[in-house]
Amino acid sequence: MDAMECMLGRQSTPAALLAEPAPNDDEILTLLETAMRAPDHGALQPWRFLIIRDGRRHDLGEIFAAALARREPDSGPDEIEKARGKATRAPLVLAVWAEIVENHPKVPAIEQVVATAAALQNLLNALHARGYNAILVTGAPCYDENVKAPLGLAPKDVLVGFIHIGTARDGAAPKKRPNPAEFLQIW
Ligand SMILES: Cc1cc2nc3c(=O)[nH]c(=O)nc-3n(C[C@H](O)[C@H](O)[C@H](O)COP(=O)(O)O)c2cc1C
Repeated sequence: MDAMECMLGRQSTPAALLAEPAPNDDEILTLLETAMRAPDHGALQPWRFLIIRDGRRHDLGEIFAAALARREPDSGPDEIEKARGKATRAPLVLAVWAEIVENHPKVPAIEQVVATAAALQNLLNALHARGYNAILVTGAPCYDENVKAPLGLAPKDVLVGFIHIGTARDGAAPKKRPNPAEFLQIW
């Protein structure tokens, strides 16, 4: 498939509609070659990826549930269960974060997050190119130290999101996209 055609065909799939097959660990490594081509000021390579599949998704669910209970102690059992279930909707979850070099003389933290987000977008396109479906999600867990710490992040690091990955149960109609002309000016 032509690269433009491929990128123009990518769209997210809700996590609840993602089923097997998901890429295996070797395929993820191959797909991540595209992430290594992201623009990267200072060649800091800030991007980090963590594969969470099989039973480890349940461990992630427990982390989400415990973090919600601490963040919002009034949460009821249904809310806690919902938080728990967010980790197990798709067969594969990839946590993506920026390992931040603090006080870098030339590359502020925001640029390290931008580089990681660019790497993440390359990966989303690569997943699509290989016939997989995915969605990036964040939500309160991404900004919760009680989620970051058990995944191995330091407080300075930025959890950019969780990519839920699999194969869409049903084909979705192509989304209507905005007209780029509305976002472009000529100076
Ligand atoms: C940083 C970031 C965080 C996001 N977090 C969520 C989220 O928590 N839940 C969600 O349903 N979509 C979230 N989205 C949106 C989806 O990833 C996706 O972009 C959106 O559903 C539009 O689909 P599209 O990729 O086909 O345009 C997030 C997007 C970005 C860029």
